[in-house]
Amino acid sequence: MRAITVIPGQPDSLRLVDDLPEPGTDEGAVLVEAIAVGVCGTDHEVIEGGHGEPSPGSAALVLGHESLGRVIEDPTGALAPGDLVAGIVRHPDPVPCSNCAAGEWDMCRNGRYTEHGIKGLPGFARDRWRVPPKFAVRLDPSLAELGVLLEPTSILAKAWEHIERIGVRAAWEPQTVLVTGAGPIGLLAALLACQRGFEVHVLNRTESGAKPGLVRALGARFHTGSVAELPGEFDIVLECTGAPPVILDAMCKAAPNGIVCLTGVSTGGRTIDFDAGALNRSLVLENNVVFGTVNANRRHWELAAEALAAADKGWLRRMITRRVPVSAYAEAYQRQPDDIKVVIDFQA
Ligand code: BGC
Repeated sequence: MRAITVIPGQPDSLRLVDDLPEPGTDEGAVLVEAIAVGVCGTDHEVIEGGHGEPSPGSAALVLGHESLGRVIEDPTGALAPGDLVAGIVRHPDPVPCSNCAAGEWDMCRNGRYTEHGIKGLPGFARDRWRVPPKFAVRLDPSLAELGVLLEPTSILAKAWEHIERIGVRAAWEPQTVLVTGAGPIGLLAALLACQRGFEVHVLNRTESGAKPGLVRALGARFHTGSVAELPGEFDIVLECTGAPPVILDAMCKAAPNGIVCLTGVSTGGRTIDFDAGALNRSLVLENNVVFGTVNANRRHWELAAEALAAADKGWLRRMITRRVPVSAYAEAYQRQPDDIKVVIDFQA
């Protein structure tokens, strides 16, 4: 069968193969026919050789961690043939650590977790894949092809859950939210913020493309320019660019008792001068919390499925700016200026 593969650590090794063996039942009882995979910054990093680990016993890794598929069979009966599902990205470490043992593999303590299409587990960019029932999340059928947005939404469902858990450390009535970056993660952060009824502001580097319209369609305010220039402070800041100057400015934009959530995986290697003492003083004197978040566990995936089911389908559809048939896979990984979410179609 067809699969998009890469050799981790080896740039220019991206290929479409057509002789990948069918997934074995050792990968899980649920057999799924691929509908689509989404492309994100992590895929680019794996392709560029900066991230990723091959599957055990192989030099190659099947790419794809943002999935959408249709169940072909599930002998356990947890899912029915025809169900629309996405596969959970991360699997617990083999020890397992206390978090993985509790089903909170997103908080793995020893780093020995595996991730489909990223770290030691074949991805979902193949005609058919298998997962254990616990790692398949059912989607509302009305979402149809939009279900491919479930994985990035799960990242924000976790971010919001953790913001809310931190918030209850004291009396807290947040009203304003700042999201930096209007890529897929920023837009989904804003969607979940609007679903919670906050006054939402989204800042993006440029005004071009569909981003400003998508932000305004949520009822949020769109801004360009620097974070520092924005008037006022915000009760919650979600940093979704991973860009060092934006991160620092975002940390300074939290109101007293405010929470700053960092979601961007920066590449590192870029240093900037900043006054750590002044930042520390402002965080301490205002009881601010700055925290990082990565990945999501099953609870977050289910929250994300509910959030997507409640969202405006037309709005979600506008987030998918390019659909590329798997035969033209390489084009999907070439960045274009107005891309938001690019999706590779396995059924075209
Ligand atoms: C994925 C996460 C993953 C992280 C680090 C992100 O792109 O969405 O599931 O944990 O990369 O590999």
